[in-house]
Amino acid sequence: MQPLVDAVVRRLVHLLSSADDRAPPVSDGASPERIEAAFEAAGVPLPLRPDEPAHAPEALDAAVGAVLAHSVRTLHPRFFNQNFAGPDAVAVLGDWLGAALNTTAATYEAAPVGTLMERAVCARLAALAGWDAHDGLFLAGGSLSNLHAMHLARHRVAPDAVQRGNPPGGLAAFTSAEAHYSVGKAMALMGLGRRALHVVPCDARGRMLPDALEAAIHDARRAGQRPFFVNATAGTTVLGAFDPLDALADICRYHDLWLHVDGCFGASALFSPRERHRMAGVERADSLAWNLHKMMGVTQQCSALLVRHPGLLRAAFAGGADYLFQPDKPHAALDSGDLTFQCARRVDALKAWLTWKAHGDAGFAARVEHAVDLAERTAARIEADARFVLAAPPSWVNVCFWWVPADLRPLDRAARGVDVRLHGLAPRIKARLLREGTAMLGHQPVQGGPNAWRLLFINPAVTDDDVTATLDAIDVAGRALPHPA
Ligand SMILES: Cc1ncc(COP(=O)(O)O)c(C=O)c1O
Repeated sequence: MQPLVDAVVRRLVHLLSSADDRAPPVSDGASPERIEAAFEAAGVPLPLRPDEPAHAPEALDAAVGAVLAHSVRTLHPRFFNQNFAGPDAVAVLGDWLGAALNTTAATYEAAPVGTLMERAVCARLAALAGWDAHDGLFLAGGSLSNLHAMHLARHRVAPDAVQRGNPPGGLAAFTSAEAHYSVGKAMALMGLGRRALHVVPCDARGRMLPDALEAAIHDARRAGQRPFFVNATAGTTVLGAFDPLDALADICRYHDLWLHVDGCFGASALFSPRERHRMAGVERADSLAWNLHKMMGVTQQCSALLVRHPGLLRAAFAGGADYLFQPDKPHAALDSGDLTFQCARRVDALKAWLTWKAHGDAGFAARVEHAVDLAERTAARIEADARFVLAAPPSWVNVCFWWVPADLRPLDRAARGVDVRLHGLAPRIKARLLREGTAMLGHQPVQGGPNAWRLLFINPAVTDDDVTATLDAIDVAGRALPHPA
């Protein structure tokens, strides 16, 4: 297999070193049939058949070529589609290292270095959040971090639940209308039911309204439910809004509720002395989910869960598998595997540690500030451009906007049929952008309105010229639609 290893490593090095290259398409928009044909041509058909033969290294290298040719180039400076992008090259190295070592972060004996790095990274993240004491670990994504936090909150009010199931009467949780969909899923998985999740309205920027939270808590109590958990979002997925953490912490303290901050997207503001004010109040939270695989370009997944109550993770999760967590082995107290639902766990802290050490605090701050500056400049120029209308003022690194066909300018959304037309435009334009590979960005309804475009500034290689090229590509594609679009 050595020739294959050499060939594929060469391809990967080439991929990483071409991160600034704007010539290749962001995506080649290939159909499933074209992708299958590419693997046929490589001599390694995509389906796995009964009696699958072993393929030669040259053919497998050609198949890897097909993988690269038809995968989305998320490192392309015109990939704005999601709140991850452009992997940091050092993080990729950390990921390769972790994969090559192929161990589990569950025990110190299997991952001595990874365990110490996890502790080091979590300690520094907790310090940035302003916490003195904490437990922390890396989980397989922010959704799982949010689920863990909810489990802890329930354990605080109903420690019997791990043995007997949910208490009678029902527990109530609260989150904003702009929160991530994993919160509803967590309610379902915990057996609490999605209906016990009270969805609190937001202001025009997408921030949870504290008075509305207060009212929802009273409503839940009147309905006989026991409130136990508030999920605040720092950096909402669509608008990038930061809920007012201090005001929410006041409410949680008054009502004795667990405050979880889903900072998967926005907690990285804490890396920047200039931007950290957005997170004011996080020092009072009970738990914090923080994805370094979003803003910080660490490869997926790299999601830290921090808990301000040492010992609670163990109390809520420990299964005590005696084949793994023998109490009498050296350094048993450092085993983290019983602090989580996961058994095998990637040593994600390794790539986080390596990336942080490579860039330092100043490099991390610069990455965040570059993205915020670019988002603000983009919003300002969209406001000044008759072809576009901002759907909401930017709160973070998200810029949501509509492309407006010439016959609808200036945009009057109150006019009959306008929202319906706007709503239908983005998917049609996006289909063309994907075919051409010029740029990749997402769209979604914004606060109940029609589909709006969403530019997400994550990749530090993105320039103002990339923004110009992307806005122009939307305009050209929109004008090419049959009239009236
Ligand atoms: C605000 C927020 N929370 C949680 C998540 C879920 O994180 P993950 O994709 O790592 O499960 C996301 C993902 O985009 C998010 O935007």
